[in-house]
Amino acid sequence: MLFSLQAIDKYPYFNVFPVSKMSQNPCMPDVDSCLSKAVQETIQVGLMISDPVSGNIIYVNNKLCELFGWSAGELLLMDFTRLLCEGEDSDIWKYTVDDKVIKFRSRNGSVIWGLMSSNRLRDKNGNEQGILYSITDITRRKHVEQQLQQSQKRLRLLTKKLIHAQEAVQKRIAGELHDGIGSNINAARLMLERRIAAAGDEDNSLLGIVDLLKTISADTRRISRNLHPSIIEDIGLIAAVNSIVREFSALQPDMVFHQNISFDEDQIRNSFKLNLYRILQEALNNIMKHSGAKTVDIQCRITGKTLELSISDDGCGFDPGRVLHNEDSDTTGLGMESMKERATFCNGSLTVESGVGRGSMICVKIPV
Ligand SMILES: Nc1ncnc2c1ncn2[C@@H]1O[C@H](COP(=O)(O)OP(=O)(O)OP(=O)(O)O)[C@@H](O)[C@H]1O
Ligand SMILES: [Mg+2]
Repeated sequence: MLFSLQAIDKYPYFNVFPVSKMSQNPCMPDVDSCLSKAVQETIQVGLMISDPVSGNIIYVNNKLCELFGWSAGELLLMDFTRLLCEGEDSDIWKYTVDDKVIKFRSRNGSVIWGLMSSNRLRDKNGNEQGILYSITDITRRKHVEQQLQQSQKRLRLLTKKLIHAQEAVQKRIAGELHDGIGSNINAARLMLERRIAAAGDEDNSLLGIVDLLKTISADTRRISRNLHPSIIEDIGLIAAVNSIVREFSALQPDMVFHQNISFDEDQIRNSFKLNLYRILQEALNNIMKHSGAKTVDIQCRITGKTLELSISDDGCGFDPGRVLHNEDSDTTGLGMESMKERATFCNGSLTVESGVGRGSMICVKIPV
């Protein structure tokens, strides 16, 4: 430790820590320097001074030696760049930085993440004599951040897979419903109609069965279309969007729906269309289930190179922070998460504006 202090003793003009004014008293000349040295050697921040011209290290404190695993003697034979990881700016030591995150390498090769600030040290005449660096070890924090990022990445991948798997299963069930049960119901209805016509039977109960079969057939078609909206391929996105809004307004006769949906759907990639439709479907489902709204407003247009879909309601509203950050993860569903993921899949973003008692607005922006 003394070794490292020798270096600074050679540079008495450094007043790194002017902790006391007492040294102005000629009877107590060493108080400043003693206190200064004590602080430098006990502080939990790595301190280093380099020569402003060559970059050679001319002072290190204990913490810096501990951090990098080199002895003070070894460090005093190095220049600053020797401590940097490959890829870091080798001229960084020349500039003054403030809380800059820098990747260093320790003696044993491990990476050290440091938060570095630097100051130019000048003598009484204003001549630059050294650059003082303070380096705080943030390696643990960085590792935690990296782990968190990885977990978030894994979670997003999982959500994406879940959405794909759900879409695949729904498509299969929709197919079975439409082609299997739906077709058989239609066949049964036709057979019954023919039988009634052939027998000239005006029996109301049989006609009632025909009506019932028609209703079951329509319900099957609706359920099948909700499960997998092949309607988008059949009649296009705008027509599909209008159709789903009609369906919701039929289910909620007390809600007033305003819609302004006009855009050139040829500008939208086919793979994005199903996602947009699903986002609208989930937003409308949420309004129906949770909002108690009187009015719903749906806008969809392309401005410049962005498609913007917004769905707003004047219902009870909610705290988006809690929902989007999964603070009630035991009770909340998957809808919001899946909407967000679908917007991301389309290289876009989803924002939620709401507050308790303030209605809500979901806004999706997708580049076209
Ligand atoms: N339009 C809305 N009005 C009021 N509250 C809403 C609205 N949309 C969402 N919420 C609130 O946000 C929560 C999360 O919505 P989300 O769609 O993620 O889950 P869910 O609808 O409860 O379940 P799931 O979608 O899985 O069936 C809801 O439980 C509800 O409290
Ligand atoms: Mg929902």
